[in-house]
Formats: sequence, structure tokens, C-alpha cells
Amino acid sequence: MKTPYYHYDLKLLGATLDAMGQAVREDDPFVVHYAIKACYNDAVCRMIASRGYGADCVSEGEIKHCLEVGFKPENIVFAGVGKTDEGIDYAISQGIGCFNVENVPELEVINERAGLLGKTVNVALRINPDVDAHTHEKITTGLNENKFGIAMEDMVSAIRKAEKLEHVNYIGLHFHIGSQVLDVSLFAPLCERINELQDMLDGEGIKTTYINVGGGLGIDYEDPNGHPIPDFEGYFSVFRNGLKLRAGQKVHFELGRAVVGQCGTLYSKVLYVKQGHEKKFVILDAGFTDLVRVAMYGSYHYIENTTPHSTTLEPYDVVGPICESSDVFAEGRMLPATERGDIYAIRSAGAYGHVMASTYNYRDLPGEVAE
Ligand code: LLP
Repeated sequence: MKTPYYHYDLKLLGATLDAMGQAVREDDPFVVHYAIKACYNDAVCRMIASRGYGADCVSEGEIKHCLEVGFKPENIVFAGVGKTDEGIDYAISQGIGCFNVENVPELEVINERAGLLGKTVNVALRINPDVDAHTHEKITTGLNENKFGIAMEDMVSAIRKAEKLEHVNYIGLHFHIGSQVLDVSLFAPLCERINELQDMLDGEGIKTTYINVGGGLGIDYEDPNGHPIPDFEGYFSVFRNGLKLRAGQKVHFELGRAVVGQCGTLYSKVLYVKQGHEKKFVILDAGFTDLVRVAMYGSYHYIENTTPHSTTLEPYDVVGPICESSDVFAEGRMLPATERGDIYAIRSAGAYGHVMASTYNYRDLPGEVAE
């Protein structure tokens, strides 16, 4: 296969889905959706859909793709801070399960579009819980300063508004505090916040059946070999123990990274090894156009030379071919002796890898293989 390309390990994906399934107990009122924005690969998505999971989408394109790969429309939720009229119409016409609504003007537009199509649609309101996920600032979403969701003080009036509108049916609340949360105890404050808000709703006599806690469970980027499967047990038990649910309520989850992150690897060929004055550079044929996470968030990815020439390690700066100095995958990384033509594996690249690739520098998009 021509490098650079993504490889998805379907066996590991299967094992990850098994672990996730086992961590949800029979009497848990939990519904898991796959946040499809993390990885669109057909085989990956089909395997997830075939297990009966729902999907979390943020665009018309994602909804279309979900339907193509076998997710059922009623198990699809549509989130996203800037839904277009076309996207809303498409989602309504396909009969998706619920809109996660980000603000009141959007609620009005959904009501109007549903009216034009002669339908009534389920809506949940995204509430900004002002809970800190303690993750990278660019992937934190649940703080008051973020663009996402409706402020808690405005929750009741927004629900009252929804109740008055003819073509929307208020079913509940949606939250998402951020992504790559490794310490699952950080979800406990979210549960407490939801409990407080539920008390408020009870006081107002508002019936809520749908509580969507978003996604965010992180993966171990530093040791993908040691921890190929995330801590689903710990994650679900925080919600099992922390949420005070009312009769008939279902808790929805939107997990992306935790489902697909570890099963993906970006393979890349070493084009040149350059001895600089102060350091040694490995120049790969993959760049930030193929995997942008390091350049964009300063993320760490585990890197292996799959064709090593010695067992002694030396420090290398692993860089890409793009004409920008941010095109660096690692600095001073200890790796075995490397030569032109070696194949490097950049691990934990299944989530937010290929989906964020670009053609900058007139490059091809990286290939994909799933097996
Ligand atoms: N639900 C909502 C409303 C979201 O915004 C996201 C992710 C998810 C669920 C899924 O989150 P996950 O379970 O994957 O953490 N490109 C960044 C991550 C951006 C996440 C955006 N929202 C990265 O490469 O780290």
C-alpha cells in the first residue's frame, strides 16, 4: 500500500466494542452513540453500526454517511453549533431521533423547518454546564466562555419556549464537557450539575426523558500497546453512581475517540535521515496534512520504527514534508537507528486522524485500509 496510509485494526475495534458493551449492565438505562466525526472509514463505521449503536452527527454529510453504513435514523442524534437549513431539512426528512439544539434562534429555525415539512421533531437543549474537563483548551467545550450551548440560567426559559413551539417536542438535555478526558472522575462534577438541574426541572414541573452526557472519554496515547482499550468500566460507573435519574429516563453517550482511537495507525515511509548540526531529523512522507493533531494541539502520539536497524535508541526529530515549521510529529524522540525507506508507525491515530486530513501543498489524502 502506498504510504502514507491509515490502517484500522478491526480485531482491536471488535475487542473495544466488546469491552464497551460489557461495561454497560443490563439494567443500565444507557444508550451509546458513536460520534462519527472521529472516523468515517466504511468498514469501521459498519462494524460499529452492526452492533446496534446509535450515531452522533454534526452535519448533513455525516447523517448521510451514517445511513449508508447502517445506522438506523431513529438512533441518530444531530448536534452542532451551526446547523444549516439544508442540514436541518435533511435530518427531519430522514426521521432522525433527536436534535441537540445549541441556542434559541436555532430552536426557532428547527420549528419553522419542521412546520414547513409538516413534521414534529424531538429536541434536546444543549446546556453549558460550566464544568472544567481539564483537557487541552482547544478541545474544552463545557465552560461558560465557550461558544457551545445555552447557559444554565437560561435553561428553563428555553424549555418554556420549546414547549410553546408547535413543531418541536422537548425531550431533554444535552451536555459535553470536552474531549480526551483520561481521569474519569472529572465526569462526576458533570453528574452533580445534571442532578442540580434536574431538581430545578422538577420544581418547574418539566418532564425530561433524555439526558445526553456527550462524549470525551480519553485514550492512552503514551502507551497504546499497554492500554489498547480505554477504561469503559470506570467511565460508565461514574455516571451509574453519580446521576440521580428519574423514572423512565435514558442516559445517552456520544463516544468517538474511545471507540476508534487505538485501532488506527498512520504508516509512513522515511524519505530522508538528515544529520543537522545539533540534531538528527527523520523526514517522513506523512505530514500534518495527514495527521494534524500534533501541529494543532501539540498532542503526543507514540511512534515506532517498524523496520529498526538496531536496538540502541537515539534521539530523532520526526518531521513531515510540509513547508511549515509546525510540521513536526515529535522532537528528540528516542527511536532505533533509522534509514531511508524505513516504515514508521504513528499510533493511536484512529480518531480525528484521516477525517482531519487536507490536501494542502496539493498532496493526496492518505489512503485507508481496514482489516
Ligand atoms: N459530542 C460532542 C457534542 C462533541 O463535540 C464531541 C467531540 C463528541 C461528542 C465526541 O468526543 P470524544 O468522545 O471523541 O472525545 N479533533 C480533536 C477532538 C475534537 C472533539 C470535538 N468534539 C482531537 O483530535 O483531539
